[in-house]
Amino acid sequence: MKKISIIGAGRVGESTAQLIAEQDLCKELMLIDIREGIPQGVALDIQETAPLLGFDTRVNGCHQADGVKGSDLVIITAGLSRKEGMSRTDGLQAKIRNIDDIVQSIVKSAPDSIVLMVSNPVDALTYEAFIRSGFDRHRILGQAGVLDSTRMASYIAMESGLSAKDIDAMVLGGHGDSMVPMIRFTTISGIGIEHLLDAGAIEDIVERIRNGGDEVLSLRKTSSAYDAPAAAITKMVDSIVHGRKRIMPAVAILQGEYGLHDIAMGVPCVLGDRGVESIIELPLNAAEKKMFDESAVAIRKDIDSLK
Ligand code: 2OP
Repeated sequence: MKKISIIGAGRVGESTAQLIAEQDLCKELMLIDIREGIPQGVALDIQETAPLLGFDTRVNGCHQADGVKGSDLVIITAGLSRKEGMSRTDGLQAKIRNIDDIVQSIVKSAPDSIVLMVSNPVDALTYEAFIRSGFDRHRILGQAGVLDSTRMASYIAMESGLSAKDIDAMVLGGHGDSMVPMIRFTTISGIGIEHLLDAGAIEDIVERIRNGGDEVLSLRKTSSAYDAPAAAITKMVDSIVHGRKRIMPAVAILQGEYGLHDIAMGVPCVLGDRGVESIIELPLNAAEKKMFDESAVAIRKDIDSLK
């Protein structure tokens, strides 16, 4: 991939840029932020790690929207930073205006790009980007499930004392209180977690996943999580850039999958060089379907409030 742009040089944008550069996932990485000097400074700081870490990616910064010009992939992390007590949907109207402007600049300057939404509320904003851009749905996706799943895997590793490397966790649905941890599809070296953890421990883990973002925010006070989000974004970008076709949960536009239309939410996707290559429909049991549908109702409420 020749060029990746990251819009928003806040903490998530900066940590993501460092990982993408370190992994040489593109030739040029552009950081864009309306605060003049910040993206340029962040870019220079990261660029100066290249001799130490051994990468060739050129990292640049720019405070104008047309910095996205010619990008193959655009990652949107811009947004109001969340303070303790704020939900992911607070300030939605202001966020929307900001996202609409960003999407217009992408349509104008990077019309063939894949767009990866990270800003919250990610499900509704991914849908907004789809509608505003007019891009084919495989080129618009959002990050949430990879982060929620790595949190789930981390809690399972902490609780069980087993290696995090062997844990394959899956969280679907919206990135909010109604997210859907998929216990039946979560394994440790292929063994279902219900064989290794008791029901009470699993219940506690589910509760903790739903509050995973808040837990970090309430400890840090002035900042949401950014290290785990950056690692999650980079895992998705790696699969797209290398056309690996890895399966991971992503916020995708649904047109009939899971019985839903005109909505964006977290489902298992095959990620490759076209973006979302396909969506995998899991056979949900009644309890999972109920949680999934409740999550869809919450997302639809956000989407409707944007109209
Ligand atoms: C998180 O879950 C802020 O959505 C982000 O940490």
